[in-house]
Amino acid sequence: MNTESGTENVIAIETGPVSDSANTAQFDKTICVAMTGASGIQYALRLIECLVQANCEVYILMSKPARIVMGMDTDLPVPSRSAQVQSQFTERYGARPGQLKAFGQEQWTAPVASGSGAPDAMVICPCTTGTLASVAAGTCNNLLERAADVVIKEGRKLIVMPREMPFSIIHLENMSRLARAGVVIMPPNPAFYNLPKSVEEIIDFVVARVLDQLEVKQTLMPRWGIDET
Ligand SMILES: Cc1cc2nc3c(=O)[nH]c(=O)nc-3n(C[C@H](O)[C@H](O)[C@H](O)COP(=O)(O)O)c2cc1C
Repeated sequence: MNTESGTENVIAIETGPVSDSANTAQFDKTICVAMTGASGIQYALRLIECLVQANCEVYILMSKPARIVMGMDTDLPVPSRSAQVQSQFTERYGARPGQLKAFGQEQWTAPVASGSGAPDAMVICPCTTGTLASVAAGTCNNLLERAADVVIKEGRKLIVMPREMPFSIIHLENMSRLARAGVVIMPPNPAFYNLPKSVEEIIDFVVARVLDQLEVKQTLMPRWGIDET
């Protein structure tokens, strides 16, 4: 890294894997899953797995703190760059070529940076209070924030899954602002009426509700009064 020439930031920019937009037609929907540095990345990992199985194209964004928390929340290898995110996740979830595309936080050429390349929906899972504030303020300081801003302006569905306890009035006001803009606020709050017997079942409860919101068919959890239990 060249710190003397003042080009550190330029050198640090990830160009990331090349996007192949020709592949998009093979998939039923395009969903952007953005992970930030709140506890609970397990929800995002399971969501990505289910979206791959449901024949969705998945765009993956990951903040730097998300990688740090992934190292603490899981015993999985932590990818350091978006190319690694893409290859590791593709292998782990058995995605088809071109189905998973990961982008760096300064990869402004990514489709999600523009309204013309916006996904059908985006989920920030989990969402830190910091990213919540940035999205509510429309700062667009990195690709993740820009992608959320684009999804809102294009009238697509944005699901935000803030994790903090307790929420301060600042967090609640930011959620309220986003809700007024049509954003779906879904804190990862599992229920226990299904008598979960494992952490995986608790995760699946939350992920099932997100898939329902995305209108992606799921069989993780029955829908109350509709599916047989
Ligand atoms: C182990 C660990 C757990 C964290 N959990 C949370 C959390 O649950 N919610 C939250 O808002 N921030 C949490 N943070 C703090 C965020 O990672 C930090 O504010 C970071 O700047 C968020 O950046 P990002 O929104 O770009 O990912 C946690 C940090 C660490 C190291």
